Amino acid sequence: MSIGFELSDGFGKMREDYVFAEAGRKVAAFTERHPSRKIYRLGIGDVRGPLFPEIVDALSGACREMESAETFRGYAPASGYDFLREAIAEYCARGGIEISPSEAYVTDGGKNILFDVSSLFDCDVLIPSPTYPVYADGAAFFGKKIEYLVGSESDDFAPDPPRKGRYLIYLCSPSNPVGEALGRDKLTEWVKFANDSGSLIVFDAAYESFVFSGVKSIFSIDGARNCAIEVSSLSKRSGFTGLRCGYAIIPSGLTTASRSVSRAFERYCASSDNGVAYPVQRAAQAALDPSLDAKTLERIREYSLGALALKKAAAKRGFYVLGGSSPYTWLKCPDGFSSWEFFDYLLSLGGICCTPGCGFGEGGEGYVRFSSFAPLQSVDEAAFILSEILRKL
Ligand code: MLT
Repeated sequence: MSIGFELSDGFGKMREDYVFAEAGRKVAAFTERHPSRKIYRLGIGDVRGPLFPEIVDALSGACREMESAETFRGYAPASGYDFLREAIAEYCARGGIEISPSEAYVTDGGKNILFDVSSLFDCDVLIPSPTYPVYADGAAFFGKKIEYLVGSESDDFAPDPPRKGRYLIYLCSPSNPVGEALGRDKLTEWVKFANDSGSLIVFDAAYESFVFSGVKSIFSIDGARNCAIEVSSLSKRSGFTGLRCGYAIIPSGLTTASRSVSRAFERYCASSDNGVAYPVQRAAQAALDPSLDAKTLERIREYSLGALALKKAAAKRGFYVLGGSSPYTWLKCPDGFSSWEFFDYLLSLGGICCTPGCGFGEGGEGYVRFSSFAPLQSVDEAAFILSEILRKL
């Protein structure tokens, strides 16, 4: 017996498979066939470092509060507890961005809002490609007309804004998968385009903590408060991929012709979820405390050093490679290899697991991405193996 209706049109419009799931299955099959081979897991951008004890203390302290009637908490406010919204505003202020706590909306990581955001607007969607596949999946799922701005080596995969059109535009900086941050001039062009055309930029800042000198936030560009929202996450910065906590910054004055975007977002949050768990919000507050900045930065620097080691390994063999201002390194496959062929080649020859560039959309075929979210020593070893493999090609 089957149910009497089909999956939705929107579901049918998403890509058949999520690249990380497909790569994960291939690696699992490989390790089953070769249980004694060492695998360098540089595929999905999942953090490996454990949580800092201060974060775990906050998490467990909040769990303990839940066992007493006086301190127990039920439903969280849909937009987040004030203590975390304030901590987010203070974190932004340390980076030179002034926002009001009420402009920060706590979310369960960045992914859900990045997937859902186009559903709030009556818009076409513009996606520079290759990029994080969730943008296109979400827009396709909600039946949006999508246009891609396909990057290439000639612009180092950082395309200019189009000449015309009005869109909801996804920008990711530092870029997943290319690993480079957009510069101030390029972002200024995008903000100008958005303001001139009545477009909205959805700025994915999941990797902002990897920017040591440069633009971390779209709101450091003049005019961005009239045309942008920013989505960020504690996943990569503080190791929250499992805990799930992020935030969206929606300027209070941002409006459509007739409605406030933040009010619409509040309305959406009220019906779509019941907020992020209280202990997780306390853990996020601890993670954003200035007392953890130095330790956090040290860890981010270690991941960055891994990305630079991979980049150097490929550059020294004369390959086109980008990255270094994020945990990602973007490598052109040797002549004659498709993304998946080179993925298989690296896995079988070197035990290196990467992500095929074609999984990030048009423009990504013929490239692979490495994540350096792994202990530096193991990324360094993988970089050495990669350089030996490339030397022989
Ligand atoms: C990535 O590796 O690009 C992402 O972290 C994977 C994900 O968020 O699903």
